[in-house]
Amino acid sequence: MAKFYVRNEKSQESGEFELLESTLGAPVVDISGFKAKVGAYTYDNGFTETASCQSAITYIDGAKGELLYRGYPIEELAEKKNYIEVCYLLLHGELPNSDEYESFERDIRTKSYPHEGIKYLFRAFPDNGHPMAILSSAVSALSAFHHQHLNIKDDEEFMEMARRIIAKIPTIAAYTYRHSMGYPLIYPDMDRYFTENFLYMMRAFPTGKTQIRDVEVRALDKIFMLHADHEQNASTTTVRAVGSTGAHPYAAVVAGINALWGRAHGGANESVIAQLQMIGSVENVDKFIKKAKDPNDPFRLMGFGHRVYKNFDPRARVLKKLRDELRETIGISSKLIEIADRVEEIALNDEYFVKRNLYPNIDFYSGTILEALGIRKKMFTPIFVIGRTVGWITHLIEQKKDPKQKIYRPRQRYIGKTKRSVP
Ligand code: SDX
Repeated sequence: MAKFYVRNEKSQESGEFELLESTLGAPVVDISGFKAKVGAYTYDNGFTETASCQSAITYIDGAKGELLYRGYPIEELAEKKNYIEVCYLLLHGELPNSDEYESFERDIRTKSYPHEGIKYLFRAFPDNGHPMAILSSAVSALSAFHHQHLNIKDDEEFMEMARRIIAKIPTIAAYTYRHSMGYPLIYPDMDRYFTENFLYMMRAFPTGKTQIRDVEVRALDKIFMLHADHEQNASTTTVRAVGSTGAHPYAAVVAGINALWGRAHGGANESVIAQLQMIGSVENVDKFIKKAKDPNDPFRLMGFGHRVYKNFDPRARVLKKLRDELRETIGISSKLIEIADRVEEIALNDEYFVKRNLYPNIDFYSGTILEALGIRKKMFTPIFVIGRTVGWITHLIEQKKDPKQKIYRPRQRYIGKTKRSVP
């Protein structure tokens, strides 16, 4: 086993630490006992250089722009599989055979109804409340209706708990949208596949036929898949932190929903469209690029940059291809795309962005597709929640099964007052 030697020049303390190889990517230095050996803590603002756990679910190579779910490249999964197959893959570690798929997919359908009591919560919410605030409140209530999942030990119950929330989130998200529009809540239709069912619950009315085209189902299914998991991002880290305390699994997912809401994270998809609408025309793009580059201007180019990808986000590549394929079939707003293409063209050639490895990320393209599916901006991040719930719950299960996992409790660099007496 290779070693790392650290020497504290100030105190003359030193210690050796094990270098643990990873199956892919950089090895990690196990710094257990670091303070006792060398008299100091490590400091890593935002955990940019810190591995918080070991995981076998997803791997990202930021330099190459590569994303693997259980070893499979995202581009190949997007071409050959659907979202529910990928949910099975993330949860079980392998793609399902036809019997496994049929049983899993049927169970997701049958679990798509939340307890009827959840519906009555919506009467309390203002109809102009942001859907993320309403969604997180309603999902939090799920832990009240499924208290039996608080302390899980066996595999089958882990999977039962996981299938339940994966199946119910789209229904609750659709309820959230319908409430915000003053429309009647629509029950799930168990004769429809997951993604088609979501579009049905968003669009249907108690009378009349609901039009849902296969091309729309395929597009949204791909969006759910591309959002399914992404290693230890901010919301997944939040889910793991809450899960590490032994809280209800659904309470941990709610914490993830609230972390994802931030515009630096999952809320960026909504901000991208708002920003393109604010730019308003191709002629205005240069002015906003200048603002994004100005160190004294807090304006950021939404949908650009990533903590890990220092190359094109592979999910963005898949979505860009999908967006261009859909341009004719579902009438994507060409004006917003022209502005987006101009932003991309300038940013990819501008020294400021190139030097900082700022490339389009998943959020840069998802918004124009979702808008073309008739989904309102305020529902973009709830759509991200639907896709990501399987990732969150898979990490939670992996954590609960890891005998070495501890409660999250980082330390700090204290820079406050020294001890003093109260006058
Ligand atoms: C997601 O982590 C994940 O995996 C997340 C995600 C997932 O699937 O879970 O991929 C989903 O959150 C995608 C990211 C969506 N967010 C946005 O699109 C918001 C816009 N992007 C930025 O806020 C930013 O790029 C972050 C938050 C995404 C990443 O920030 P970092 O890695 O902390 O980078 P930084 O803030 O340290 O920036 C480095 C430099 C700075 O300039 P200097 O101080 O070196 O001069 O790049 C600049 C920043 O000012 N910069 C940008 C910029 N992003 C970074 N400048 C203009 N526009 C931007 N978007």
